[in-house]
Amino acid sequence: MINYSIILFGYMGVGKSYIGKKLSKKLMIDFIDLDNYIESHEKKSISNIFLEKGEVYFRNIENKYLESILNKNLKCVISTGGGTPCYSNNIELIKKNKDLKSFYLKTSSNQLSNRLFPEKEKRPLISSINSKKELNIFISKHLFERNVFYNKADYIIDIEKKNISKVLFEIKEKLT
Ligand code: S3P
Repeated sequence: MINYSIILFGYMGVGKSYIGKKLSKKLMIDFIDLDNYIESHEKKSISNIFLEKGEVYFRNIENKYLESILNKNLKCVISTGGGTPCYSNNIELIKKNKDLKSFYLKTSSNQLSNRLFPEKEKRPLISSINSKKELNIFISKHLFERNVFYNKADYIIDIEKKNISKVLFEIKEKLT
């Protein structure tokens, strides 16, 4: 069994929760999805938090819940929200924690826009974008800004054109 936690970064739609869940099963450790954790503690969906309280409120509680999870010193896999490493002092909290290995799950804006367009209603940051082309432009710019933070992860895993077994294999390879 590993004696540290794993935290996954990456853009919306890259599969952080899906991959995180599978990875935790494989490693036989717990899984925490930060967005779900926030929703269950706030008793509201992320969309409703954005709608009722706004993004600044969301970023504040995202920071607070991340810190409280990290303070528990659990051995688990944590999947973050797409913006988590890019706001507050989250990246510093993560990087200074010696019991945490971070992974950036990376793919192209094309793959992201194909995945996200059909389910954009659930994502407050992109729900008002009307065409796939516009979404692709938005994601390309957004990724460019966010990559500064995502690239601070300990490891970068390119997931494009890889099935789940290959992605898990590549992550596990970094853990030995
Ligand atoms: C966000 C991503 C979402 C959620 C919120 C903000 C972002 O998480 O935290 O809507 O800023 O990219 P997912 O990446 O799990 O969709």
